[in-house]
Amino acid sequence: MHITLRQLTCFDAVARLRSFTRAAEELHLTQPAVSMQVKQLEAQIGLSVTEHIGRSIHLTDAGKEVYAYSRAILQELEELETVLVNLKGEGGGRLRLAAISTANYFAPRLLGTFRQRFPSANISMDITNRESILVQIAANEVDMAIMGQPPEGLELEAIPFMDNPLVIVAPPEHPLAGQRQIPQQQLEEEVFLVREPGSGTRGAMERFFKKRRLRLTTGMEMGSLEAVKQGVQAGLGLGLIPRDAVEMELRLERLVILNVVDFPIHRHWYVVLHKGKRLTPLAAAFRDLLTEEAVDLLQTA
Ligand code: PGA
Repeated sequence: MHITLRQLTCFDAVARLRSFTRAAEELHLTQPAVSMQVKQLEAQIGLSVTEHIGRSIHLTDAGKEVYAYSRAILQELEELETVLVNLKGEGGGRLRLAAISTANYFAPRLLGTFRQRFPSANISMDITNRESILVQIAANEVDMAIMGQPPEGLELEAIPFMDNPLVIVAPPEHPLAGQRQIPQQQLEEEVFLVREPGSGTRGAMERFFKKRRLRLTTGMEMGSLEAVKQGVQAGLGLGLIPRDAVEMELRLERLVILNVVDFPIHRHWYVVLHKGKRLTPLAAAFRDLLTEEAVDLLQTA
């Protein structure tokens, strides 16, 4: 069997992007050239790797196996490139990050600082939902991810790097606004806007109520942190939100934090990476920026 790196690169892009057209764009090739490479790969291994169902592209069982290996091989190759670039002292290299959408209120600022230190590095940060992050981590498509609720049961290392206290917010005219030491039972009388299923914030909220045997009355389901903020301001219900994500709304007096007993709920932000992953110097530098500097950087930003 004679599989070439070019075939693997083309197939890898098709498998990742689920599209020959987008793979061709990414690789700066024509679409027929990419198809040809994938066909040659199939000829070499004697099995099909993709199948078309309707307009979408799926991986066959063989395709899934090849994809797992192509990821690993190409990742190693990228690491090698980064190591060599570093040996040459050019400070370049590639860093692929993913962050849960809720981290959007701080992650870009950290990335800004990092960019200044490594101006010639090729860095991407996919700010996306939990499901997509889990897929990307499992497929080793990213060097590391920022999450509030690290997944369990995978071969992952999760390092907490910053507090993520969750508070209950209300519009300033809410009857509980300004009251002190509001008993938790009082929350049973309120309607809460909830995040989408799978959201770490929503999980924390449900666990909090369940543990204390409090009845949780939920109103509308909102698809993002931003939507919850807007919904609370519009008087649709209360919201449970990372405190640091509502700084501006508090300053502008569009929202207030309710002073409920035993609040905030204490959580953390984590950087999640594969256990035993050999980090490139660039990736290690970003991990260190998170674990050693993030708190200070964000305070002074
Ligand atoms: P999420 O935020 O609610 O968007 O999943 C991350 C978390 O706090 O777990």
